[in-house]
Amino acid sequence: MERLQTIEFAGWDATFSSSVRQTALEALEAGRVLYFPGLSFPLEDHENRFLDPAILDQSKNASYNPAKDSIGGTVCTDGDAADLKVLIRRYSTTAQSFLNRLLAHYGPALKRERASLRPAKAEGRVQSWRKDDTRLHVDSFPSKPTGGRRILRLFCNVNPNGRPRTWRVGEPFEDVAKRFWPELPAPGYINRQILSLFRVTKGFRSAYDHYMLQLHDAMKADEEYQRTVSQETIHFPAGSAWACYADQVSHAAMAGQHQFEQTFSLPVEAMENAETSPLRTLERIAGRALAEHHRLSQAG
Ligand code: SIN
Ligand code: FE
Repeated sequence: MERLQTIEFAGWDATFSSSVRQTALEALEAGRVLYFPGLSFPLEDHENRFLDPAILDQSKNASYNPAKDSIGGTVCTDGDAADLKVLIRRYSTTAQSFLNRLLAHYGPALKRERASLRPAKAEGRVQSWRKDDTRLHVDSFPSKPTGGRRILRLFCNVNPNGRPRTWRVGEPFEDVAKRFWPELPAPGYINRQILSLFRVTKGFRSAYDHYMLQLHDAMKADEEYQRTVSQETIHFPAGSAWACYADQVSHAAMAGQHQFEQTFSLPVEAMENAETSPLRTLERIAGRALAEHHRLSQAG
């Protein structure tokens, strides 16, 4: 399978023909990365100061939360904080409007979540294997159960020195899932109730979320898998953008510095072909529903 699907001549204010929209939708849901050559995100001169990793607190990126119109992850205060918020919010609203046009099929079901500015180098950060995003993985967050909702991300490399961002992209999700399924431990119901009760997790961790976390860890922990699995190295040039379902595409960020990222979530039911989702794929392998309880508890 081709890992990249290029969408040509896209500016942020582009309108897309129905055939381009359909190509993009099918490619994304099939687990490919949409690549937008030349889709740069210009900064104003005075905003270049935010490309310095010194703006970060302990976090690996500065983030913008659209629900609260607030920023985090930064040591900036006062006027600096206000300007930084304007910048990340501009990326966030630009990204939303762009994907709403390209992925019109999803309509309002495509929900804007947090955005981030990543001014630090992707490579050479010493950290635990679990947090090491230079290892192939699918995205899954310990404190934020999705109950099967999709995680879609739009990235833009804004490196001012022409440095590409380098990713490795691995095998299709179904292959990853089938390979690791036999070694993933089953979820403990009581344990997940306790995590939710003590608010370690925001809401109940569904069996789906349990398995996605286990899968994320099993992939990263397996050094031989990292070396030998079918994979491709992709260099995203400075001044380009790309998007993928990060819960589905096996990816690793190997090198590069300075990028924006906008996260979206989507209920599986809003997909054109929900069967390609990690939820439905894992359910086929497990032979049972993996997010039922989560749905009920969210509704109630
Ligand atoms: C990741 O989601 O693993 C990191 C992607 C990046 O920062 O390029
Ligand atoms: Fe990731």
